[in-house]
Amino acid sequence: MDNINIVDIRKLHFSYHHGQEIFKGLNFSLNKGDKVGIIGSNGSGKTTLFHIIVGLIKPIKGDVYIFDKKRTNEKDFFEVRQKIGLLFQESDDQLFCPTVEEDIAFGPLNIGKSHEEVKLVVKDVCEKFSLSGLERKVTYRLSGGEKRLVAFATLAAMNPECLLLDEPTSGLDEATTERILRYIKNHVETYIVVSHDFEFLKDAVNKIFFIKDGKMNLKETL
Ligand SMILES: Nc1ncnc2c1ncn2[C@@H]1O[C@H](COP(=O)(O)OP(=O)(O)O)[C@@H](O)[C@H]1O
Ligand SMILES: [Mg+2]
Repeated sequence: MDNINIVDIRKLHFSYHHGQEIFKGLNFSLNKGDKVGIIGSNGSGKTTLFHIIVGLIKPIKGDVYIFDKKRTNEKDFFEVRQKIGLLFQESDDQLFCPTVEEDIAFGPLNIGKSHEEVKLVVKDVCEKFSLSGLERKVTYRLSGGEKRLVAFATLAAMNPECLLLDEPTSGLDEATTERILRYIKNHVETYIVVSHDFEFLKDAVNKIFFIKDGKMNLKETL
């Protein structure tokens, strides 16, 4: 079968506000069906790379191809964000509506689904993530673990082709970690996980890369 490319980053250079260079000619490629981990020390650029893939920040030099198309402007990335879901490192960056159900409904409504359809989607993902009963709760009053599950639910509501998960298990108990592992393994075809949790990574991915000195390297052993 031919490889279908999802993300292809070529010779990426990036620094914030012309400070220290975080990426120095980084190359990275992700194909449909890939389940990969990315590790790297604090500050090595893992979160920054995810933000570049979904167009929240722009490279200084280098090209970003997503679904085989070069992406540069906002319009290009609008399509990317409908198909590639980013789980933010901080759930508070992901959730911005007053209640759980509004946060989950936001994405599907935004792409034009009817209120009837969205109702079903909300019900379905709440069941998937054991959030039934929390629909009307005020998001900012939830616990950290509950917020992470709601953040996952907002992504699942969009039925993404690919997920970018930025430290998805940090601060979660074993049962919730297990639920997340089951969800991504069974329901998401292609994903990248950034994590310091090796046990989780070993279960979730079949390839691990590490960022060092501004470049991406393949880790030889899992
Ligand atoms: N908005 C920003 N403005 C300036 N510097 C930033 C910003 N975001 C991150 N950085 C810096 O860029 C580097 C990479 O950050 P980040 O991608 O968050 O690393 P990681 O996720 O690997 O821990 C760090 O040194 C961090 O302090
Ligand atoms: Mg980070």
